Amino acid sequence: VGNGLANTPQMGWNSWNYFACDINEKVIKETADALISTGLAKLGYIYVNIDDCWSETSRDSEGQLIPDSKSFPSGIKDLADYVHSKGLKLGIYSDAGAFTCQERPGSLKHEYDDAALFASWGVDYLKYDNCFNLGIEPEKRYPPMRDAINATGRTIFYSLCEWGENDPALWAGKIGNSWRTTNDINDSWASMTEIVDINDKWAPYAGPGGWNDPDMLEVGNGGMTYQEYRAHFSIWALMKAPLLVGCDVRNMTAETFEIISNEEVIAVNQDALGVQGRKVLAYGPEGCYQIWAGPLSRHRLAVALWNRCSKIATITAKWDSIGLESSISVSVRDLWKHEFISSNSMSSFSARVDAHACEMYIFTPTMAIHSVT
Ligand code: GLA
Repeated sequence: VGNGLANTPQMGWNSWNYFACDINEKVIKETADALISTGLAKLGYIYVNIDDCWSETSRDSEGQLIPDSKSFPSGIKDLADYVHSKGLKLGIYSDAGAFTCQERPGSLKHEYDDAALFASWGVDYLKYDNCFNLGIEPEKRYPPMRDAINATGRTIFYSLCEWGENDPALWAGKIGNSWRTTNDINDSWASMTEIVDINDKWAPYAGPGGWNDPDMLEVGNGGMTYQEYRAHFSIWALMKAPLLVGCDVRNMTAETFEIISNEEVIAVNQDALGVQGRKVLAYGPEGCYQIWAGPLSRHRLAVALWNRCSKIATITAKWDSIGLESSISVSVRDLWKHEFISSNSMSSFSARVDAHACEMYIFTPTMAIHSVT
């Protein structure tokens, strides 16, 4: 898309997964405050993204969008100024159709007016949804908003949310900075694992500038266990997915904070190489012992051992399945225990993994040992 953004996947917060339509300017401001006070902003969570329901149900007499007068009485510009004063960025939401999914006015055929309005407010990010699309192909509906954004002269992150319709990985790299590959996530193990498997197929098309988007994080919303949320976060990081927190960061538990603030896992997501890690092997009952891996900068490898079975198991990654030559020895860093562990054998690595848990590591090749002749 050429706007210079998204060299690494976007990080921030979005209102939808926890608040849905129950949003207002107080919630957004308090969320910005919480991102700062908890230290999440320093870890990279800089986008504060307002989702659906911020606008009135019809345009004004001049055809412009208007913020809901009850929930956003001070307007979006005021909110952008507030968020900017904290060093954060503001995101907004619209729809490439006649209406948004919650039946607020959409931007189809209003692209230039709406992009100009968003730019005048100081908006930094646009999530662009797919409801009420009049049956027009996404390849026709999404480029006009890119062009309208470019015409404003403001740099705005452009997030396509068309739920994987017409395989966006194949064409959206020229249009936006990320594209949804799936339907909406919900706060359950079943939804999270299903989405992961769909998103995995599109790995070759992700890279600096444009990323596959398997939807926002549910960590902290209550529908999964601690281990399931850790797996959710680990795999999102490894898949180079956007890390958009979807819980109420003003009231997080210590466990939620521990997961989303894991700097070593975040560093995998934000690694400069920008290659989406993949499921490299699934074995055992119904393929529920899984090895996920992907290359990192400086010849390192991110590796996840994910037990999708309902019983504890030992999972073994053999060097050939993760693309290492058999002669290579590695140092292993455990990203959840935050310690180096000695590799338990040459040419493979095994760990006991709890039911639904995902252990995550960085393998760094050490010097090859040459025999003296
Ligand atoms: C769609 C999107 C969601 C969310 C809602 C809001 O379902 O996919 O992410 O934005 O609309 O109505």
